[in-house]
Amino acid sequence: MSKKVLVTYATKMGATAGIAAAVGSELRAAGLQVDVQELGAVQAVTPYGAVVLGSAIYEGQWRPEAVRFLRRHERQLRNRPVWLFHSGPIGPSRHQEQPVPPDVARLARLIQAPPVKTLAGELQADAVTHHRDLERLVGDSRDWQEIRAWAHQIATTLEPTRQPT
Ligand SMILES: Cc1cc2nc3c(=O)[nH]c(=O)nc-3n(C[C@H](O)[C@H](O)[C@H](O)COP(=O)(O)O)c2cc1C
Repeated sequence: MSKKVLVTYATKMGATAGIAAAVGSELRAAGLQVDVQELGAVQAVTPYGAVVLGSAIYEGQWRPEAVRFLRRHERQLRNRPVWLFHSGPIGPSRHQEQPVPPDVARLARLIQAPPVKTLAGELQADAVTHHRDLERLVGDSRDWQEIRAWAHQIATTLEPTRQPT
């Protein structure tokens, strides 16, 4: 099977795209071939030997296109290593693991993915115009060190090809 890794994501405001880009950079630095693409641009997972898939969380749910993607590609995803993450918690709760929505949990079990990784997110001012209660949480809580460490673990599992220096 191809060694190429797909890093794909569902976002509303862009924070999850930034996380996916950082995961992709770390995997590349470890010598892996990587495509980073928004879910809508992915035609098939068959060209890839492994998949990292993430979604932003809104009101406790994954973005609908991410759930649809897992459902549509379930059989192919089951046949390759898959890592799932969600981008959500912000502010003082940024390190709090978030519950996995039941529809995603069911699909993750079918795919035999390891536990979904919670990564802190970013709340943009534009996102809270109709949610005054969230205004005080506006800001970027993404933890680049944690993101890189998680991606590094994935790279280690995938037997990276980087030559020792
Ligand atoms: C209306 C609204 C609801 C949200 N609900 C949740 C939630 O239930 N759980 C969570 O962890 N984060 C929640 N968030 C935070 C976002 O998931 C977080 O900002 C995320 O990083 C945004 O990703 P995106 O920019 O890729 O869309 C919410 C944000 C907004 C604006």
